[in-house]
Amino acid sequence: MKIALRAENYRDPFGYEQERRSVWLREWVMFCTTAELSKPGDYYAADLAGWNLLLTVNPQGEIIGFHNVCPHRAGVIAWPGNGTLGNLVCRYHGWAFAWDGSLKSARDFGDDEPLCAEDFELKKISVEAWGPFVFVCLDPNAEPLLESLGGLPERISQYPIETFTYAQRIQREISCNWKTYVDNYLEGYHVPLLHPSLMKALDMSTYQVSIPEPSFCLHTCDTTQGSASGGAWLFRYPNLAVNIYADGMNVERMIPLGHDRTMIMYDYFSVDTSAESIARMVDLSNVVLDEDQLICEAVQRNLNSGVYEAGPLSPRHEIGLMWFQRKIAEAISL
Ligand code: FES
Ligand SMILES: [Fe+2]
Repeated sequence: MKIALRAENYRDPFGYEQERRSVWLREWVMFCTTAELSKPGDYYAADLAGWNLLLTVNPQGEIIGFHNVCPHRAGVIAWPGNGTLGNLVCRYHGWAFAWDGSLKSARDFGDDEPLCAEDFELKKISVEAWGPFVFVCLDPNAEPLLESLGGLPERISQYPIETFTYAQRIQREISCNWKTYVDNYLEGYHVPLLHPSLMKALDMSTYQVSIPEPSFCLHTCDTTQGSASGGAWLFRYPNLAVNIYADGMNVERMIPLGHDRTMIMYDYFSVDTSAESIARMVDLSNVVLDEDQLICEAVQRNLNSGVYEAGPLSPRHEIGLMWFQRKIAEAISL
């Protein structure tokens, strides 16, 4: 019998620090979409498990990435969000950097001790795009993205995702550890109890979970007649869920904001990008998200309480959790 990860792994700030280094510093992680970085000067800046990152498009049209941390006194080159940057200038005291991250000028610094430009560069990170997804990796020895994705692109390519257009993002902060939410995503065991609207749309007797290869998990389910909710749900370790339907997809990420808080981010892509169609997709996932938030926050309070240690995982419904939790355990060397 497989036993779940222990409760302490979901509540311990020191354990979270360990995960930052052994999971979030190592893996290719989807960070934004190509829609946000489509022309020179576009930028997207956000936090990823405590690392403040900046992606931008250089004048040659290449997406480049840096830690959004100035080597002077840790100021920021861009505020969080997206928009357009004319150049890379620190918002604190105005040091300017070239597109390769090297220091161009240290504004009004004084010339007692001239600065050696190579010693004060923005730290680069690896950035690569696949399809509409832009991934980052903070490990200087990262393998190429496509190698790391394995068979996932081929699996996703079975759907006409090139006919989908980026439409909208919603995000919501939830009071639980990021793994509490991922665990919940990885099983359909709870659907009959928590998601009445999904139950109507899905034929749960056909619900299946498989691990086609070590880097991703796949859920499939037939729809009930007349329902548009069926499709494939792919989960790429550590936090990327690609939920694909015939006419669109929503891409869901669980981004840790600390050991006890998680940002859930949804990006919607659709064939029909009319306001009505997008509103329908958003409304549907908001209902499911409300239901998942309620249970994940309740579970987290119980994990925090000290009453629960670890329970058994269902070989029928929870093999996705077995896979995910084993990867976490290996990463943090449990
Ligand atoms: S911290 Fe960036 S210029 Fe001072
Ligand atoms: Fe759910």
